[in-house]
Amino acid sequence: MKRLFSTGACWLLLALTAAAADFPPVSELKSNPNLPDPLTMLDGSKVTTKEQWEQKRKPELKALFQHYMYGFLPEPTKVTATVNAENKQALGGKATLKDVTIKFGPEGTPPVGVLFVYPNQRKGKVPTWVAINFCGNHTAIADPAVSLPKSWCQKNCPGVKDEHATEEGRGKQADVWNLEMIIDRGYAIAMYYYGDVDPDKHDFTDGVHPHFLKPGQKQLGKHDWGSIAAWAYGIHRVVDYVLTEDVVDSKRIACVGHSRLGKTVLLAAAMDDRIALAIPHQAGCGGTAPSRGKIGEPVKRINDVFPHWFNDTFPEFNEQVDKLPFDQNCLVALCAPRPVLLSNAIEDQWANPSGQFEVQQAAAPVYQFLGVEGLAAKEMPELGVLVNSKLGYFIRGGKHSMNAEDWKAFLDYADKQLK
Ligand code: GCU
Repeated sequence: MKRLFSTGACWLLLALTAAAADFPPVSELKSNPNLPDPLTMLDGSKVTTKEQWEQKRKPELKALFQHYMYGFLPEPTKVTATVNAENKQALGGKATLKDVTIKFGPEGTPPVGVLFVYPNQRKGKVPTWVAINFCGNHTAIADPAVSLPKSWCQKNCPGVKDEHATEEGRGKQADVWNLEMIIDRGYAIAMYYYGDVDPDKHDFTDGVHPHFLKPGQKQLGKHDWGSIAAWAYGIHRVVDYVLTEDVVDSKRIACVGHSRLGKTVLLAAAMDDRIALAIPHQAGCGGTAPSRGKIGEPVKRINDVFPHWFNDTFPEFNEQVDKLPFDQNCLVALCAPRPVLLSNAIEDQWANPSGQFEVQQAAAPVYQFLGVEGLAAKEMPELGVLVNSKLGYFIRGGKHSMNAEDWKAFLDYADKQLK
């Protein structure tokens, strides 16, 4: 027995016992047209002490989000890392780049490629971004040391042929990731490609899901994890890995992702206090926009078009979002008192930027309750002006994308909030 429990097997046992919580069926939930108060328990009682928030309400909210929306993340599993290649003179000698493969989970779980880049000039440990990308690590920098993903790829990603990455994609998203700016500002970054953890298709026979089924289980149940929860679990395992790197400041891990991967980042941060700062960029419905919102993407639309992103209970709210016993302000509140920046673009109304400002306002009571500044703005800021408070907000001109202007705001925010 001793041997069994001294290995990854104990994680596996825990993973297999993770079960749905004992909450009412959707039909029995009460309707509430407003963004629910994060400081009111499901039974209507008020949270009046910090201990109640930490020990009762936070666990309840985490379980509610998993039960009704994202599905349950398995317990952590042990991570092992192998360095495939290293370039100590990346970005013209400014950075060291490592191409790493991490493994976790039960036997057979697909490996995940991680690109880790850190500044050569540094004083002590550095703040580190953990990021998740759409098109493969090789698209962030044109460096032959970076492996191409072997898993399924989005067909609209650069250089993709027959749903697989090719050499042609190298460096084609350098303007999305802005690695040189990140290094110049004194940060490291570790990123992984989301398709390595779960291909973005309505199919749970690939990626991590089949490997985490309980013995005898053939398919996912109504409260089991969807793809967003799986990608968030991948972020947690990349955090496990970066914490083994000497240069990384374990107290200053910032997490960033765009759109569906922004939804993923907010869930990952809400579920894991090691993430000191979160930037769910243009995350919209199912992430940073209110499910009760009237602008942009509705819950029914996201469940119809992307049924694999959430669990099989979330569609029961399609025509009755007011029954959700939480809204996305409660997911932000789970991060309190840690900084969370909601960043947007004015032409990206699909992601409901003004509704996201309301989400920040409705998360603020928890920050105040914990004795920290919440949102330092009463109204949405002008385009390009960063509200740099624990609950941050940014909106720029332009469309749904991630670019250098966003990264400048992200870094200004992290400089102040990760002190
Ligand atoms: C679609 C989807 C959004 C999502 C976006 C993306 O537009 O409706 O919810 O955020 O894709 O991930 O790019």
